[in-house]
Amino acid sequence: MRRLESFKKLNMIKKILGVALALSVMGFSCKSPGKKQTRPTVENSSDQKWWKEAVVYQVYPRSFKDSDGDGVGDLKGIISKLDYIKSLGIDAVWLNPIYTSPNDDNGYDISDYRSIMKDFGTIEDFDALLKGLHERKIKLVMDLVVNHSSDEHEWFKQSRSSRTSPYRNYYHWWNAERGKPAYRWSFFDINSDAWKYDSLTNSYYLHYFSRKQPDLNWENPQLRKEVYEIMKFWLNKGIDGIRLDAFQLASKDTSFPPLPAGYENNIIKYYGMGPHLHDYLQEMNREVFSKYDIMTVAEGAGSSFEDAHALVDPDRNELNMAYHFEGIDFGNFRPDYNLVGFKEIYSRWDSAFAIKGWLSIFLANHDQPRMVSHWGNDDSLFREASSKMLTTFALSMRGTPYYYYGDELGMSNIKFDNIEDYRDIATLNKYKKLKSDGGDLDKYIETQKRASRDNGRTPLQWDDSPNAGFTSGKPWIKVNPNFTTVNAAAQEKDSNSVLNYFRKMVKLRRENEVLVYGLYTLLDKDNPDVYAYTRELNGKKFLVLLNFKSKATTVDTGGIDLSKAKILISNYASTSVDNKLQPYEAVIYEL
Ligand code: GLC
Repeated sequence: MRRLESFKKLNMIKKILGVALALSVMGFSCKSPGKKQTRPTVENSSDQKWWKEAVVYQVYPRSFKDSDGDGVGDLKGIISKLDYIKSLGIDAVWLNPIYTSPNDDNGYDISDYRSIMKDFGTIEDFDALLKGLHERKIKLVMDLVVNHSSDEHEWFKQSRSSRTSPYRNYYHWWNAERGKPAYRWSFFDINSDAWKYDSLTNSYYLHYFSRKQPDLNWENPQLRKEVYEIMKFWLNKGIDGIRLDAFQLASKDTSFPPLPAGYENNIIKYYGMGPHLHDYLQEMNREVFSKYDIMTVAEGAGSSFEDAHALVDPDRNELNMAYHFEGIDFGNFRPDYNLVGFKEIYSRWDSAFAIKGWLSIFLANHDQPRMVSHWGNDDSLFREASSKMLTTFALSMRGTPYYYYGDELGMSNIKFDNIEDYRDIATLNKYKKLKSDGGDLDKYIETQKRASRDNGRTPLQWDDSPNAGFTSGKPWIKVNPNFTTVNAAAQEKDSNSVLNYFRKMVKLRRENEVLVYGLYTLLDKDNPDVYAYTRELNGKKFLVLLNFKSKATTVDTGGIDLSKAKILISNYASTSVDNKLQPYEAVIYEL
């Protein structure tokens, strides 16, 4: 990126949705800090950083491009599409886990942290991928899952083998003669029980996720050292960043006291940001991060602004940026969803981070339904306009945008009718549990059409050939049947496509520092249809108007003079410079 080079370089159990959105359980709400903020300028934000200016493109390797016909995306497939990735204009790729894994949770259960999953290729393929990205001036952020490992990891095999194993304390064990440990809820367990009894040593082990994802014991300095060595292994290969999966859960009160009544209303308060989390991050920073010019982000940001700030306060030397869930959790499938509330959440977070710290901005990821189905309108009439509108939002807010593969095409939820089509452990285990409890399975399938993580994991739609050009074999998960019309090849040819709009929006952000660092001010806050705000920096002022509804509407910009306004981008061919907006219209003016 041009400027980059110039710098030195919740509710616990989502009752409505079920476990499919269990990851959004990591959401929470934060109170306004109430402190007066000064206006940011590039001068006083002292710290222009490449990772603040970057647009991150998330690639879900299993579904991006299959090179060998086994139906599973792989590294060679990604390599074959590097020019496409480059053409997007993005600066960094975040790759979901590609390490060896039995795939109980699609790679988030790692059995060897230093090798590549067979389905995805070899370490040589990885080296070629990294080289190909770097040749194109694209950085690589790897996903590291170290809150837990796979139960097939050698550490766990050893740990389980005997109470005196040197690896015993790599995990959390509870000897059964002490009685049953106090209940802990598990995200993916069929019985929602995070303690699994293991007769081999007459003990229970802890797994916040599935039974095959035992939690690592971060109290153990030896384990921490092993993890730092793993990080160095990849960083020394030249990767540019690390995303720490589920890391806010890593530190635990290892006396495992009973949880107080009502804990499920704020799971992160009891599960997240444990007593030593900051110590671990500071040690990690000292031992590893500080030695490299990298981007670091952890999934989740605690349950208060204090938590979130502490994670990313540059003076504390922990992480670069916070990735909070309050926005993503407030989906349009929630009965209380409304645009005024959505605006309030983003504005509150922006204001809390206006001076210190840095945020991620995202409307989708591999744990979420598709952006357009979640926040826009996937009806064929509005799919394109609302996708472009959401792209305008994600790329014009302050914070580093994380943009999910396929959203640049306006891919939408697949909405499977049959449980047999689902692949995600979260959806499947919740279904099994409901079935054994005699629950309403039809209703459940309906909720999964809106909420299941599999909606966002279907293969990238490259063209209108069989399987959307993703694989010559049988895809591991069905391709969205709309691929015949929604695909990259068709959109390449259309200068007004969702794809080409994304490219224009990335370019606009790249060319205008004001969209990265500029002061954000919300306008017309009670308007139920329109999200309107200005961004200002060093004398430059942009006005962003976004109609989140399928009807024409108006916005009150508080007397801003539009007479000299210049349209920088708009998702309609015919945009009049006034306060009227067409359905899902998005426009950015320079004032
Ligand atoms: C994170 C990942 C999610 C995974 C979970 C357990 O939340 O984003 O996909 O299932 O951790 O590793």
